[in-house]
Amino acid sequence: MARHLITSALPYINGIKHLGNMVGSMLPADVYSRYLRQRGHDVLYICATDEHGTPAELAAKEQGLPVDAFCAQAHDAQKAIYDGFGLAFDHFGRSSSPQNAELTQHFARKLNENGFIEERAIRQVYSPADGRFLPDRYVEGTCPHCGYDKARGDQCENCTRVLDPTDLIDPRSAISGSTELEVRETKHLFLLQSKLQGEVEAWIDEVADEWPQLASSIARKWLTEGLHDRAITRDLDWGVPVPADTWPELAAEGKVFYVWFDAPIEYIGATKEWADQDPTGARDWKSWWYGPDGADDVRYTEFMAKDNVPFHSVMFPATEMGVREPWKKVDFLKAFNWLTYYGGKFSTSQKRGVFTDQALDILPADYWRYFLMANAPESDDASFTWEHFTATVNKDLADTLGNFVNRVLSFSRKRFGDDVPAGGEAGEAEARLGEQIAGLLAEYETQMEALQFRKAASALRALWSAGNSYLEEKAPWLEIKTNPEGAAQTLRTAMNLIHLYSVVSEPFVPSSARAMRAAFALPDDTATWVTADEAKSLTTVTAGTSFTVPPVLFAKITDEDLETYKERFGGEPTA
Ligand code: MF3
Ligand code: ZN
Repeated sequence: MARHLITSALPYINGIKHLGNMVGSMLPADVYSRYLRQRGHDVLYICATDEHGTPAELAAKEQGLPVDAFCAQAHDAQKAIYDGFGLAFDHFGRSSSPQNAELTQHFARKLNENGFIEERAIRQVYSPADGRFLPDRYVEGTCPHCGYDKARGDQCENCTRVLDPTDLIDPRSAISGSTELEVRETKHLFLLQSKLQGEVEAWIDEVADEWPQLASSIARKWLTEGLHDRAITRDLDWGVPVPADTWPELAAEGKVFYVWFDAPIEYIGATKEWADQDPTGARDWKSWWYGPDGADDVRYTEFMAKDNVPFHSVMFPATEMGVREPWKKVDFLKAFNWLTYYGGKFSTSQKRGVFTDQALDILPADYWRYFLMANAPESDDASFTWEHFTATVNKDLADTLGNFVNRVLSFSRKRFGDDVPAGGEAGEAEARLGEQIAGLLAEYETQMEALQFRKAASALRALWSAGNSYLEEKAPWLEIKTNPEGAAQTLRTAMNLIHLYSVVSEPFVPSSARAMRAAFALPDDTATWVTADEAKSLTTVTAGTSFTVPPVLFAKITDEDLETYKERFGGEPTA
């Protein structure tokens, strides 16, 4: 048994996420966490909403709410959706928590003591009409690189280049639209990342070879380009305040830390929230994060989309190192490419693609979970189309898995009643089946342990198919005419496959797995993993166990449904 710390990139508070966000962070982290828990490991899966920064302030303004009230409500809205998706976080926190503020300030003080923070006067966009500085997204204008006229001060959404507000052509205030903008000098804290370059490089050389190529290549590219010192404070009302004990002048001016400084620290902050929430005080947050003796036994895996890799592979580790305290650093960084919508971008701002709330309105979570993971954008971008989604659900979930379960249980019930029938001895076909199942199970485990989700999903699919082939081969509906004992034995074996599926399918389709397990009146309804011997012998569910026939596990998506979805969401690419 090992201790596994798992985090997925913190979703921004500013809006409901789309399926592309889901498949690149929270969902795979949940699949992996569930698998490890089933294997008996001690797992802590932590996530939170990322609540600071200009996107939060602007979204609150759009809704006419004070930013704290907006965040509280938006957090609950996101949490409800993630519950609906079956994401089994150990804790889903908030980066605006007091725990995070305290840790963020602690990190900043330590970095300062160690000579990694410097105050610098810089030129910032100031709006006299608004009476304030306009950081990041508070300025909009034309991108100097591609000419896109709605580029934001932190980044151009069109060409994805990172920008500074002063780079924009024809800048205007995102608050008032004022174009009378000035550039004024103001003081900010800079994190001297350049001083940590060598250390980060050495650490990357040590750990990153094991990471997916996507993650390690992005980390190395950033290091090759060189770590630049960067401003870690902003002129905003909402954020972790710069501590007055260390920087009285900046604190008096109301400066707060930049959202990308406090957000990763919230991984730790949320773990502390998790511990503080426990009335017994038994949760030891620090043992997961701190100290050579405390956290060396923990394996820390992070999940994120590729745009987040620089922050997690280089910048946050640099921060942790500069603190000069033994904080846990990432051991394995699982990065994802993009999920596209018909080859184009999913876009929150342009409302293109399928959003997580809409997805759950249409179909249960398991349909989405399976499709997304079986097509996860691991080695390349992957495209979501309604046609592909429909075909996958109908073939893999409805025909292969769901139909097997219902066929076997209803037929057995009709012919042999409410208990698992005994039948005779297992024969040669069962021996072959057992070998095949054990082999596929081993393959599935190998891929899960390597966090190769597409390959794991295909091994799972192969396990489901093996059941169908066995059933076709034995054809108990014919066998029963000449050899009822044999048919009973076939059905008992098939029911054991159902039970095995209910255990091994849990990470991908947890509610359906639970429904499959619940079909059998077994004393222990846990999804404890199957051993190779159990897989080979297929005798866990014994004759005489009573069972029920669950309602259809997966309904087929009809051609009519497909047309409706395409109409509602827009099918063909616009670009
Ligand atoms: N909110 C960021 C995004 O959606 C991710 C933040 S991850 C964190 O891109 F660790 F920094 F919080
Ligand atoms: Zn651009």
